[in-house]
Amino acid sequence: MGKVFVTRKVPDIGINILQDAGHEVVVSEKDGVLTREELINALKADSYDAVFCLLTDKIDGEVYDAAPSAKIWANYAVGFGNLDLDDAKERGITVTNTPGVLTDTVAEYAVALMLAVAKRIPEADRFTKELKYQGWAPELLLGADLKGKTLGIVGAGRIGSGVASRAYYGLGMKIIYYDVNPNKQLEKELRATFKANVDDIMKEADVISVHVPLLDSTKHLISRARLQMMKSTAFLINTSRGPVVDENALVELLRDGTVRAAGLDVFEEEPRLAHGLPELSNVVVTPHIASATEETRGKMSEMAATNIKEFLAGNKPPNPVT
Ligand code: DGY
Repeated sequence: MGKVFVTRKVPDIGINILQDAGHEVVVSEKDGVLTREELINALKADSYDAVFCLLTDKIDGEVYDAAPSAKIWANYAVGFGNLDLDDAKERGITVTNTPGVLTDTVAEYAVALMLAVAKRIPEADRFTKELKYQGWAPELLLGADLKGKTLGIVGAGRIGSGVASRAYYGLGMKIIYYDVNPNKQLEKELRATFKANVDDIMKEADVISVHVPLLDSTKHLISRARLQMMKSTAFLINTSRGPVVDENALVELLRDGTVRAAGLDVFEEEPRLAHGLPELSNVVVTPHIASATEETRGKMSEMAATNIKEFLAGNKPPNPVT
């Protein structure tokens, strides 16, 4: 039977699946992300047949080589920008991810962030708890309505489509979207309008919600120039990956009011926030928790473990990305 290294404690369900299949499972004891050096040392300390890794682990050739027998690296995330896929391919390594199980959870979260920003809920919560509330007032903490407004989806895959559907049916928003390929189903079901470039989304949408994977081509897709194209009343939501948005530019433009407001669950240099971001009142920030529900984090653990279990049994894992 195989030996599996898990880079950080994850919900038990995945560990149980691997142990029930007869594998030995070693979970990092560190209460936090292993540094690159710690990860390499931990892998070299034994001989592993599989690695269960997290989006916070940056994996490249040197890290793969620390576990030469591990021919499967199962990422506990749908995103896999943390793993170098070329280095994996060169070594004959299979990388897997956890698609599908977090779609609804992240889509719900993006809508929650959208509402939190539009209705200024975190700001109102702080205001009230700081006992600043002196009584009802006609212009206290005015927010924005969403009904009839235009939602611009950048990246209309599973999660982007899930957000569009909730916004269309639940909030009565109009949908425009950009993707490398038109999504005919979205157009039919939600009367969504395809835009062939991101600029059109930036110029026309009242709310922009970003759902692209992090690739070389999507780094700073939401650039300073594109942020400057936004309507003065529009706001930006990002639950995808931090580096897709030029965060320093966003801070400047939020500060001078060019961008009205934003809701961010992801950051360019996690867990660090861009200089000046925490001081802004027109941004809602949360610590990369869009998929963090008990149900979904359990399903992600189950899925990552199943990928390893199937691979070690000589089968094709259900969710390969290489
Ligand atoms: C993912 O799976 O990529 C999410 O960002 C995890 O929260």
